[in-house]
Amino acid sequence: MAVRLDGKKISSDIEQEIAAEVKELIARGMRPPHLAAVLVGDDGPSRTYVRNKMKACEVVGFRSSLIKLPEDISEQELIARIEDLNRDDEVDGYIVQLPLPEHISVEHIIDIIDPKKDVDGFTPSNFGKIDQEHHSLLPATPMGVMELLKRYRIETRGKHCVVVGKSHIVGMPMGILLAGPGDATVTICHIYTRDLATHTRMADILVVAVGKPNLITADMVKEGVVVIDVGINRVPDGTKKKGYALRGDVDFEGVEPKASYITPVPGGVGPMTIASLIINTLEAYKKRHGLL
Ligand code: GUN
Repeated sequence: MAVRLDGKKISSDIEQEIAAEVKELIARGMRPPHLAAVLVGDDGPSRTYVRNKMKACEVVGFRSSLIKLPEDISEQELIARIEDLNRDDEVDGYIVQLPLPEHISVEHIIDIIDPKKDVDGFTPSNFGKIDQEHHSLLPATPMGVMELLKRYRIETRGKHCVVVGKSHIVGMPMGILLAGPGDATVTICHIYTRDLATHTRMADILVVAVGKPNLITADMVKEGVVVIDVGINRVPDGTKKKGYALRGDVDFEGVEPKASYITPVPGGVGPMTIASLIINTLEAYKKRHGLL
């Protein structure tokens, strides 16, 4: 049976380490680091994710601000709010929660985020430095996955890693991190991949970030595979108070018996994304204050 990769526990360890650092900064008379989040519209999952990010700030002693904006905000207005955040010396880092409403171009928005405050690691300048030794802020989810592998001493060097999904947020930067600093051989699969299972069956480490429950079934993986499930899907479930259960992209019950390690959903990658955001915010703060 697989070892479950406990992202909740690891992220909590990381948060304790950071909380201790923040206490020291404050004891030296400095202000706490400050993370802001921009939430446009009323998307249910986005509200939950942002709430969890704000909660983590509280745990580590950061200041946090939630900027809630209406669904029908114009692109120009949103850009003006982001430019305010770029100018605000009291904000060390911020995120613009995705997805954005369809009338707003994600690319335009990402382009104007100050790379020094880009704690999601989405801007072209941070993205372009992912595989460099002196990278700046790494994309939060792939960074969290790498940290989870590291803390469980799961070697990536020389392994065949198969990433399913080629999003800007997860799949693409994940592939670069695994092949670059991770020294792995990487296959990136996506919606146009023919015969997905022939690729996934070759994986020593399989990372799935698509957003389709049960996409990966037991027949699609080999014995001993390490499975990292980035998907968080709401699946209708009448037995739950909220009317839905959270499921990843992997058929957990089917795949777990064949895997050597596997992330649960929830409690696997999700908390690691938040821990990375906190690490990045502290780094942005330290750079801003000349401490790095
Ligand atoms: N939407 C889904 N995941 C993320 C993330 O990591 N950051 C932001 N900003 N939006 C998201």
